Amino acid sequence: MEVIVVKNYEEMSRKAASIIEEKVNADPECVLGLATGGTPLGTYEQLIEGHRSRGIDYSGVTTFNLDEYVGLPRDHSQSYHTFMQEQLFSHIPFLNTYIPNGEAEDLDKECREYEALLDKEGPANIQLLGIGSNGHIGFNEPGASFEAGTHVEELDQVTREANARFFPSLEAVPTEAVTMGIASILKSEEILLLASGANKQEAIRRLLKGEMEEMFPASALYNHKHVTLIVDEEAYGKDVDTSAE
Ligand code: PGA
Repeated sequence: MEVIVVKNYEEMSRKAASIIEEKVNADPECVLGLATGGTPLGTYEQLIEGHRSRGIDYSGVTTFNLDEYVGLPRDHSQSYHTFMQEQLFSHIPFLNTYIPNGEAEDLDKECREYEALLDKEGPANIQLLGIGSNGHIGFNEPGASFEAGTHVEELDQVTREANARFFPSLEAVPTEAVTMGIASILKSEEILLLASGANKQEAIRRLLKGEMEEMFPASALYNHKHVTLIVDEEAYGKDVDTSAE
């Protein structure tokens, strides 16, 4: 795992966006794996800026999102469909954008079909990932199998509490999600893991210990040959000299 320590959230976002832009310029028909949450927002702002001011062209690019809540209507303000529309897709035209359907009547079938689509059109050339304070990636919570493909996952209490800031109450946070599994994520050619802020410090410390265990899902990334962690000083938890960056 390559570790790049940057000063702050903005630098993390600029670095991630520049890696993605380089890929898109080199391969205009590439596949990007996308994430939601507070972490990738700045990256998406940078991508939008690059599209507008430097004409980076995404018209041949296909995207796959990691996850979606079960049971939230697609047009709900907190669905990941809405998030992606507002934060990226309404600003940049892509060739195809895929997000799991958390409203599917037959969720198992939805999971099988999403994985099959990923196999047909993917895998992602670059997968963008955040990390939960409990070490989750996508919605693969502590204890999730490292072998699983796309599946329905029950959300950890830590995750529901972290995401309650976006909902009127904790009770309003969905209890389940459809998520790409750890095995689906590991199919990606390259993984960009982003972490910013002191509330990620413990998760990063544990990740960098390098012990693989299912109770800490992000440790599965040690099974992948090309992972870049871009972490800011607060999340890294030590004063490091990033002046050379
Ligand atoms: P956050 O979530 O980006 O909102 O901190 C990260 C995650 O849960 O993967």
